[in-house]
Amino acid sequence: MIQLGIIACGDVAFRTYIPGIQNVRDRATVAATFDPLAERAERAAAMFEGAVAYTSLEAFLAHPGLQGVLNLTPANFHTLVSQAVLDAGLHLLSEKPIASTVEEGQALARQAAKDGLIFLCAPATMATGRFQWLKSLIDKGAFGQLTVATGQMVNMGPAGWKDYTGDPRVFYSAAVGPVLDTGVYVLHGITGLLGPARRVQAFAGIALPERISTIPRIEGERISVESPDVNMIHLDFGDNRFAQILSSFAVPASNGPSTEIHGSLGSASILDSTWYDANGPADLFFRSDNEYGQAGWNRQERSPAPPVVDGEHLIGAGARHFVDCIDGTSAPIMTADHAIHILEIIHQAQESARTGKAIDLTTTF
Ligand SMILES: NC(=O)c1ccc[n+]([C@@H]2O[C@H](COP(=O)([O-])OP(=O)(O)OC[C@H]3O[C@@H](n4cnc5c(N)ncnc54)[C@H](O)[C@@H]3O)[C@@H](O)[C@H]2O)c1
Repeated sequence: MIQLGIIACGDVAFRTYIPGIQNVRDRATVAATFDPLAERAERAAAMFEGAVAYTSLEAFLAHPGLQGVLNLTPANFHTLVSQAVLDAGLHLLSEKPIASTVEEGQALARQAAKDGLIFLCAPATMATGRFQWLKSLIDKGAFGQLTVATGQMVNMGPAGWKDYTGDPRVFYSAAVGPVLDTGVYVLHGITGLLGPARRVQAFAGIALPERISTIPRIEGERISVESPDVNMIHLDFGDNRFAQILSSFAVPASNGPSTEIHGSLGSASILDSTWYDANGPADLFFRSDNEYGQAGWNRQERSPAPPVVDGEHLIGAGARHFVDCIDGTSAPIMTADHAIHILEIIHQAQESARTGKAIDLTTTF
């Protein structure tokens, strides 16, 4: 039985990671939890037989038999906490972003590789059944020569997320913003399917400089928006293949798909409403009948790929994939190199928006 530890027992831990670990309870359990708030660490530990709750990181990392740790802290703590986990010689899954800077992410990745440790980073977009199935269709040539992808992750941000139990202010701060929070999901999906990007260009700005919280426990509180809430990102993949992504906290609602991939023979389209369903469908369009479908739209209720785990949530899929990597049933998909590449895209998109120039990317995966 794989012994996992959870660092930071906040909203995402209870909402998706703990259910994700419970989905593979035949192979893994949580042996230790850590949160500076004892009540939270204890509440998470109580969900797993024999788990110990800690309020000291050092004591948590020394828990006997611990094999892998999930770092679910707020974004600004990721580098420091991940460094401590790797220093303790433990496998690591970090929430996104992988680090505050590309250089910090690269240093962590080098250390993990040197010490033979698994180092995964959210989001788990590419570790879902749906995206692995789409990737296999692309690899088999079902869509022909890929031409362009579009993506959008749009909403008003967590100030309007009524059942959110964390602090919504963090997400509008200069350190986070919509691209790091949710745009990152489609960036991982599109690059996971098209490969590493070579160049980025963006427009971005703060369209609505203030939000009023509608979360009942802090209703009416004013939140200042310090990170661009509209971001239009263009990617150049080389060989005349491109993508455009809209990531925004200034859009009340949209009927547009979350991700579309287009090629010379067909297209794939994912509805926003199914985005977090790890086994959700993708509508496929083919220009003529072929072994993958008929000419025209092939709409689906479910992904035709067998579900990796029934009812899996995209974020919970990351916990399952971490267990798969530790027990050797899967090679890492949510690699540190992929997360570092996405972090570089996000930072250079900000720089491009500031300077008005397209920027060459230096990282790959
Ligand atoms: N909530 C979601 O649905 C969601 C989804 C995807 C990703 N995430 C990511 O998960 C991370 C956490 O988000 P959340 O929504 O759970 O936030 P949250 O505010 O609900 O919880 C954060 C927890 O971290 C603890 N904490 C703070 N500083 C810490 C430290 N130095 N060491 C250990 N624990 C510390 C807090 O006590 C709190 O329990 C963020 O990086 C966020 O982007 C959240």
